[in-house]
Amino acid sequence: NNIKLDMEKAFSFVSRDEVFAWKETMEKNNVALHEKTGKGNDFLGWVNLPNAITEEHLSDVEETAARLRSKKLDIFVVIGIGGSYLGAKAVVDALSDSFAHLKGSDAPHILFAGQNIGEDYLHELRELLKGKEYAMAVISKSGTTTEPALAFRLLRQDIEDKYGVEEARQRIVAITDESKGALRTLADAEGYKTYVIPDDVGGRYSVLTPVGLVPIAVAGFDVRALVQGARDMEKASDVNVPFEDNLAAQYAAVRNSLYKSGKKIEILVNFTPKLHYFSEWWKQLYGESEGKEGKGIYPASVDFTSDLHSMGQYIQEGERILFETVISVNTPDYEVRIPEDKDNLDKLNYLAGKRVDEVNKMAELGTALAHMDGGVPNIRVEVPKLDEYNIGQLIYFFEIACGMSGYALEVNPFDQPGVEAYKKNMFALLEKPGFEEETKQIKSRL
Ligand code: PA5
Repeated sequence: NNIKLDMEKAFSFVSRDEVFAWKETMEKNNVALHEKTGKGNDFLGWVNLPNAITEEHLSDVEETAARLRSKKLDIFVVIGIGGSYLGAKAVVDALSDSFAHLKGSDAPHILFAGQNIGEDYLHELRELLKGKEYAMAVISKSGTTTEPALAFRLLRQDIEDKYGVEEARQRIVAITDESKGALRTLADAEGYKTYVIPDDVGGRYSVLTPVGLVPIAVAGFDVRALVQGARDMEKASDVNVPFEDNLAAQYAAVRNSLYKSGKKIEILVNFTPKLHYFSEWWKQLYGESEGKEGKGIYPASVDFTSDLHSMGQYIQEGERILFETVISVNTPDYEVRIPEDKDNLDKLNYLAGKRVDEVNKMAELGTALAHMDGGVPNIRVEVPKLDEYNIGQLIYFFEIACGMSGYALEVNPFDQPGVEAYKKNMFALLEKPGFEEETKQIKSRL
């Protein structure tokens, strides 16, 4: 596999022996994930998913993407929230030209809706779409989530008004449960092209299902390479792989050792803005999987060097409850060399001839050493470059590590009972039918 894990800068906070003392537990946890004997074992479909994806399925996804793209789309709107949004957003952003939306390209620009309830956001999106060629995917495993359902109600009317009901049906893909939920009923009634989210794959583990694959393919990226990266990482994290060679198990171990030593917050760090949403995906994965029963490492994220000029102060000198995991991309796609300047008024000639990335790498190393000196352990996950294959590797690496880590915390990493509390209150406040008693109760609190 392509990923390298460097824990040296964590070992002055927790010893190598302490980390390797997790060997037996992590190997046992990995077996529990693969043999489906642990907590939440009805949601382990993602463990063997990469190698279970068929040629037929990949071709079908590619055909749908090609059919939609043949409509010369400017925009493809992906409607979904949480696990039905973040995976596609993370991968598309990591692989896209940062300015694709201003440069214009053959591939449609991927925009998202239903990931918030911002009225202005929806209005501005609808206004934009009026003058564009577009199609959409509506994604909801439950098929009943309020945010995407609301956005889809509006955007569906718009797309039908613009293209007519028949053509709108050709431009909508629904990705949902095989049989349950309002979205399934609607999609079947309208005859949309549909994809199934397997029952045993929870939202935050669903990026390698059509939830992620369809938008990523429409965006013009190679879903085969993405899946291949995940497949190879699946093999590299198999139960036959001993702890000493299983990087995901080691990552799960080191973060749990740090947690036990009082480091309660893990900050996922990147040194390229393309990974901003990868961190958002990672935060959902770890936050929803581990934050329960009064336990769990709080997952945070920063974009360096930008945030070194803001959060850098806290990380260097604030409460000593932090550790960092840096995703370091070895080689950028392009080479930009710093030119010589004859006047050198900006005093940068000492950098002349160097690549911008050399400066970035020294910022990374300097930051790791400074933060270590300031009491912040540093873990480094290195990938050769940001392409589909390596992103696929990273996805599976973090997923399987999350499963092992959640079991080490003795929680069920595959449920999310805590996300229901706000929904119940919101429905009560909005006087949703069926919530009469809750409405009465909540109103008495106001
Ligand atoms: O991880 C999860 O299960 C959640 O974040 C869901 O993905 C999110 O709530 C969206 O749910 P659904 O796909 O059912 O609309």
